[in-house]
Amino acid sequence: MQTIRHLPDLRAATAAFRAAGETLALVPTMGALHAGHLALVAEARRAAKRVAVSIFVNPRQFGANEDLGRYPRREAADARLLTEAGADLLWLPGPEEMYPAGYATNISVGGVSEGLDGAARPGHFDGVATVVTKLFNQVQPNVALFGEKDFQQLAVIRRMVIDLNLAVEIVGVPTQREDDGLALSSRNVYLSPEERVKAVALPRALGNAAEAIAKGQAVEETLAAAREALAAAGFSVDYVELVDSATLGTPVPRHPRRLLAAVRLGSTRLIDNIAVNALA
Ligand code: PAF
Repeated sequence: MQTIRHLPDLRAATAAFRAAGETLALVPTMGALHAGHLALVAEARRAAKRVAVSIFVNPRQFGANEDLGRYPRREAADARLLTEAGADLLWLPGPEEMYPAGYATNISVGGVSEGLDGAARPGHFDGVATVVTKLFNQVQPNVALFGEKDFQQLAVIRRMVIDLNLAVEIVGVPTQREDDGLALSSRNVYLSPEERVKAVALPRALGNAAEAIAKGQAVEETLAAAREALAAAGFSVDYVELVDSATLGTPVPRHPRRLLAAVRLGSTRLIDNIAVNALA
């Protein structure tokens, strides 16, 4: 696997792939890789001949009081995992490569980015859309893969790619979970052992609520019960909402629906989501 830190070297490497007629997949990450990221790499290997993975802890998507400073950074271990997983290229730009002096451009996606995490974390999705656009321009992949765990992020990126006519196919990959159901996340390392035990209440509450709604139970009552169950389990609840899977707006009859939640457990913010299968 080639590890590349500067844009001219990246351009040369990706030009060589293209000259050989090879397709390229990109897996954008912020590092601290886990089995969820490796599932993206495995899917990327099926989607294209060559696989690039980027690691960049993007300051523009963290709020002033968020965890930028303590976000886990494990470059050497990540590089080993990616070599074993069969990635061809690791793109490791520094902050000055990504946001040179005088940087002044922002990508802002309306609509789909505005509720849920967009409301709870102002500016977050502008930061994501901006860095992902830059990564697409830098790597110029044929296909890019994102986890469904960040379901709203995936919807924002899909909207942006359509709106800006970006020549990249977006593939969403199902959430990878621990044996007890907790969604894999780089932020799970923040959980104390006691919090880790409690955290399973999040996927359980979502699973129970999704099942109840699919069976026809009243949506608002079910969501209220899920919020109460989470609060009783020790979480502070940002939101538990049922939305249309594509627009993330109000559910539409006979369209797929998704149940999304964000909660805090101590100093750790956890998000998760689940499909609600029966159509209404
Ligand atoms: O999902 C992430 O890890 C990040 O939001 C992403 C897509 C790499 C952009 O920084």
